[in-house]
Amino acid sequence: MHPVMWWKTKFWTKFKPDTLGVNSAHPASDRPDMQASRHPEDWCAHRFGLSAERWAHLAGRNFWVTGAGTGYGQCISLALAAAGGRVYLTGRRETKLQETVAEGCRLGIDTSLLVPLVADITSPESVNRIVAEMASYDEPLFGLVNNAALPQGGKYQYPLLNASWDEWRALILTNVDAQWLVTQQALPLMLKGNGGRVVFMTSEAGWAFTPGFGIYNVSKAAMNNLAASFAAECEAAYPDRDFQINALVPGEARTEMNQGSSVSPYTVVEMMLILLSYPRGGPNGCFFHQDGRNLQFAYAEPYSQSLLRSARLNERPK
Ligand SMILES: NC(=O)c1ccc[n+]([C@@H]2O[C@H](COP(=O)([O-])OP(=O)(O)OC[C@H]3O[C@@H](n4cnc5c(N)ncnc54)[C@H](OP(=O)(O)O)[C@@H]3O)[C@@H](O)[C@H]2O)c1
Repeated sequence: MHPVMWWKTKFWTKFKPDTLGVNSAHPASDRPDMQASRHPEDWCAHRFGLSAERWAHLAGRNFWVTGAGTGYGQCISLALAAAGGRVYLTGRRETKLQETVAEGCRLGIDTSLLVPLVADITSPESVNRIVAEMASYDEPLFGLVNNAALPQGGKYQYPLLNASWDEWRALILTNVDAQWLVTQQALPLMLKGNGGRVVFMTSEAGWAFTPGFGIYNVSKAAMNNLAASFAAECEAAYPDRDFQINALVPGEARTEMNQGSSVSPYTVVEMMLILLSYPRGGPNGCFFHQDGRNLQFAYAEPYSQSLLRSARLNERPK
């Protein structure tokens, strides 16, 4: 069986989203099923579900999206630029980053807002170089999307039992170490302003123990803790600043790492933009699903309000 189909059979059919500690006060039914008909070509009309006020909140700000040449990262980057944000696009393959720019051109987005910065996030030198390039714009960074990751791959039925040290290290290096490095290096750019928004792209795998995905499961569980621990440290270190650091489960979609899906990676955009455009006083150290559910992780209780409702109705947090 193709490794991705095997992954889908083993992972998605065994995993039950209900086990994520969902806050049932804010079910997915809060959101009418708009996404299926929300074509990226029509972004001017639907603004990916954001209110005009929230959409305007993204304009003129600077964002860094890792893994921006493919999949979710490409969709998130294009939506941010459509809203008028400048987006630093990071990935190892320049051709993929240029594909994101070309797609922006096709969608009628101002491509001067899309800035490709080729970098390997597992290399401190590479990350330092592009952080210096971002700093040269002399504007604060407002948002970081920690999206780049490696998948488990289908080489082993039982990777925890059989993978080599180098295979374990490669996945943990990208999905954990590099996420810490990128976030740590981005924070000084955010402190040039009043704070910022960081969203970690996690996965249901971070809550699951599915055989065959052990290393990836561990990496996403570690990423969850990294997100909440960064949130707690920043709140303690910068009590007067406006940091919101959260984790988002994107569900599943057809991307380079998941060729077995037929779901569009644009499905993650609405919740991502809601988190990145949240006014002061929003969630920090919380966990969300792209379908609008508020999740529990470890000691972190589900956030108390529906983000979808607040973004649609222009409500300010109470
Ligand atoms: N698709 C799904 O069903 C699904 C489900 C749950 C969670 N996720 C999560 O969603 C996020 C995005 O994944 P995706 O599905 O959009 O898959 P994808 O298309 O494979 O995207 C992964 C991106 O990460 C980049 N990347 C990998 N290693 C890198 C490195 N060392 N330095 C810089 N960039 C690197 C890749 O670009 P280069 O190779 O050019 O560097 C690629 O653009 C990941 O965190 C993934 O775990 C996906």
